[in-house]
Order: sequence, then C-alpha cells, then structure tokens
Amino acid sequence: MLCKNIESVNGNLHFAGMNTLTLAKKYGTPLYLMDEERIRENCRIYKNALGKLYDNFTVLYASKACSFKRIYEIMKEENMGIDVVSSGEIYTALRAGFPLEKAYFHSNNKTDDDISFAMENSLGHFVVDGFDELDAIERIASKLGKNQKILLRLTPGIDTHTYEAVNTGKVDSKFGTAIETGQAEEIVEYALKFKHIQLCGFHCHIGSNVFDSDTFLRGSEIMLDFMGLMREKFDYTAKELDLGGGYGVRYTDDDEYIDIAENIKKVYEAVKLKIDAMNYPMPQILMEPGRSIVADAGMTLYTAGTVKEITGYKNYLSVDGGMTDNPRYALYKSPYTVFLANKMDKESNYKCSLVGRCCESGDVIQEDITIPKPHRGDIVAVATTGAYNYSMASNYNRIPRPPVVMINSGEDYIAVRRETLEDLTVNDL
Ligand code: LLP
Repeated sequence: MLCKNIESVNGNLHFAGMNTLTLAKKYGTPLYLMDEERIRENCRIYKNALGKLYDNFTVLYASKACSFKRIYEIMKEENMGIDVVSSGEIYTALRAGFPLEKAYFHSNNKTDDDISFAMENSLGHFVVDGFDELDAIERIASKLGKNQKILLRLTPGIDTHTYEAVNTGKVDSKFGTAIETGQAEEIVEYALKFKHIQLCGFHCHIGSNVFDSDTFLRGSEIMLDFMGLMREKFDYTAKELDLGGGYGVRYTDDDEYIDIAENIKKVYEAVKLKIDAMNYPMPQILMEPGRSIVADAGMTLYTAGTVKEITGYKNYLSVDGGMTDNPRYALYKSPYTVFLANKMDKESNYKCSLVGRCCESGDVIQEDITIPKPHRGDIVAVATTGAYNYSMASNYNRIPRPPVVMINSGEDYIAVRRETLEDLTVNDL
C-alpha cells in the first residue's frame, strides 16, 4: 500500500486502523481524516535524524501545509518550532497556546499590521524578505521598544525540478534576496546597521516536493560560501542557518521513497565538513518541513454521485466535494491515489475522471483513474491529502468546508467542525 496507515480489510478501506466506511457514516462526507500518530511519527523522523547528529538544531513545522488549532497543540507537544506566514496563522497558533518565541515569521509581504501583531505577541524570529521590510521592522520595533531577531531569506539561485508554482529558490523568484545579483550582500550590510534588529543568520527555501537529494546539498554549499564571504567583508558570523523545507512525499505508487533521515545525514555531514574547512563556528541548523509532516497523515472521503458515461469518449465520476476542498489538481495537475472504500476487493477495470461538484470544467480531482465500477452512494477515498488541502480550501460556489476528524489509537475526534450554511452568511451584512 501507498503508506502503512492504509489497509484493505474484508473489502473495506481502513485508514489509521479505522474503517473509513464507519467514519463516513458517523461524520458524513466530504470528510478530511487525519492520522495523529502519523503526524507525530513524521515530526520524530526529522527530530531523531538531526538529534543523532547534532544537538543545536530546530525543526520548524511549516504550518501553511495544514493549519488549525489542534495541529499547533500537537506541534507544541512534540516540541517542534513552527513557520508561520500570516497574522491568521499566528493567531491560530496563539489560540492553541503555542509558545510564539518558537515561531519564525515568513512572507514576502508582511504588512505593518502583521509586523506589529507579531511583535506585540513576542514572536521569536522574522524571516526577512527584502530591504523595505527591514525599515518597517526597525520602525515598529523602535516604537514598541523591542529588539527583533531576524534571519535574512536569500535565494541561492537553484532551479529545482518541481512544478513552477512551488519553485522558490531561483534568482528571479518573488521570495528572498538574490545572492547572484549582489543584493544579498547589500542587504546584510544594511541589516547590520539597525539598532532594534538582531541579525541571527540566513534562510533559504529551494522548492517544494523535491525528491532530488543533491538540491539540498547544493543549496547549503552556496549558503556556506555566502556566510564565509560575509565574515570576510563585514566580520559577521551567522549563528543560524535555516535550510527550508521541501522534501517530497509519495502521492502514488510510482513516486519514489525518500529516506529523510539518510538525506538529512548527507546534508549535515557535507555542512559540517565545509564549516570545519572554513574554520567557521557551527551554526544552529534549522529545517522547515510542511508537506512531509502532514501529507500522508491525511485522507479525504467523498460520496459518489453521478456516474456519467459519454459513449465513445470518457466516463466521469462526480463526488460531493472537489476543487473547494482539494484545488491541487486544478492548480498543479497533482497526482493522487484514489480508492473506492467499499469495493477494495473488486477488480479495478473502470476508467474515469474523478470530478467535483463545482460549476467549472476545471473542477477535477484526478483525471483518468482506474477503479472498480462505481455507483452512486459508494465511498470514494483520496489518499495523501493532509498537506495543502484543508489549508487551501475555499467556499467557491458557497460550498461549506468539510470537517477535520483526527484519529489517534483507535479513537476519532473532531478537530475542526463542518462549516454550516449559516457560517457561509455570517459575514454578510
Ligand atoms: N519554508 C518555506 C519558506 C516555504 O515557502 C515552504 C513552502 C516550506 C517551508 C514548506 O515546504 P514543504 O516541506 O511543505 O514542501 N501549495 C503548494 C505548496 C506551496 C509550498 C510553499 N512553500 C502545493 O500544494 O503543493
């Protein structure tokens, strides 16, 4: 099976040890399921891998991948840091009781309100994207009487083989300040001048869903060379090096397995070797995984509706959700594995496209899948939906968002309740 939390038992699909048909009946569909133990296990893969090698490291969960109160509580319990990108994520973390000194605030455009909100709540580090953000932080920090810790986000100029929308480490990216153009050097000199800003080190994030281990090695090498140059030029020694997130996950059986621990070891060893050769003090190492913490901890259940067979052309299976709860095929043509949860022992010989209920032809969850012959009322399961599904969901066509039900050691509980029709009009005056 795709992941060890997915099983077929007497023709029924089980997820995280529970029968998905029972859960669909109990909570209704569409329904997001999340395997709490898997989330915790994924956090520990990173922490144990780094912990074995080095004691001065921090793993930040990139909470854009999936953000609601319970997730931040789990991160707190797992002793993780977090990466946040908006006042909304900061607020949710606060409401969950997450200690904000362990948060790193990203975003290529933090508004003055965002900056003030974060500082008033004593958020640990800002990851600064460009020059004018430094001016704004200095202005607000001085007003609030704060000394703000920051990292500078740099673009090492690496082109990863991921899809365009998540390729973020290139020179012409909207994120960060480019090393290649000389502007990274200028921003370091600029940042060092401010009274209320403490430059702790550097950050880079190269791309998302990256399978290629060389990418992180090349990224860290460029960052270390840059750190050496900054020591020479400005007598500045970085205390923190954040290598970003981005490890890929298996959406289908065709995707390769990544041994994250082995990858981390390779990167750490290369960093250590180079740092020692440079005679540079070993910085704190940070990583920011999002997708690989939550993706395979998630599954979405739908109820099958219309089955449309266009003679001589193609077949469609429509479900009671769609691009509103999972926009990733519409946006990136992302692959997914689809099961008929009540027909796991039936032969998969029916080709169709799995589509949603929105008034839009692009509302496709997956094209050309082969599953057992579907009928209205079947339960359709899409695997590996824990990352960038709930967090990217919308109310397009005024469709309420599904609830998130967590599973832990054979118990299920609601972490986010289903939106109601009343919720949809709550802001309408
Ligand atoms: N750190 C930074 C600065 C990031 O921009 C991101 C993701 C991460 C960490 C986490 O990367 P991950 O480990 O999740 O790959 N909506 C897209 C993904 C956008 C990722 C944006 N940045 C998707 O659905 O594939």
